[in-house]
Amino acid sequence: MDCLLESPDETRAFAERLASALPPNSVIALYGDLGAGKTTFVQGLVRGLGGDPLMAQSPTFTYMHRYPARLPLTHFDLYRLRSEGDFLGMGFDEAFDSGGVVVIEWPERIASLLPPGRLEICLTHVDEKTRKVEMRWT
Ligand SMILES: Nc1ncnc2c1ncn2[C@@H]1O[C@H](COP(=O)(O)OP(=O)(O)OP(=O)(O)O)[C@@H](O)[C@H]1O
Ligand SMILES: [Mg+2]
Repeated sequence: MDCLLESPDETRAFAERLASALPPNSVIALYGDLGAGKTTFVQGLVRGLGGDPLMAQSPTFTYMHRYPARLPLTHFDLYRLRSEGDFLGMGFDEAFDSGGVVVIEWPERIASLLPPGRLEICLTHVDEKTRKVEMRWT
């Protein structure tokens, strides 16, 4: 499916509704260019899972943030990750079955490590305020 999100708040609201339908151990691979709205989307996920959305920022200097919530959310931003080996070496793959929800910005960086049964979401620029969201299970 795909649809248009016409403001940052619409993107947050879309993610918030999605979050309420996610079972434990969900993994979301969140694709999109710089500024596509991935972190904005994560803010909606945090709210939908019952956490504090203001806590969701771009984790610029760390690869991983955890937000406490009804289902805890683990947020990866792998833009600066150099190799899949680094991801494994830091033990990050343990997050995939820890009972919460995992969302990954720049999932391309760990393409061969992404678990099956995940949700793939792609955000693309349409214009300044509009993004297209495409979603599929894989
Ligand atoms: N419809 C929209 N949905 C999401 N963000 C939007 C939308 N319209 C405008 N924006 C703006 O686009 C920017 C998206 O920034 P955000 O940090 O969420 O992107 P990102 O994909 O996480 O980028 P990066 O790859 O650098 O981490 C914000 O400034 C936001 O206000
Ligand atoms: Mg981001």
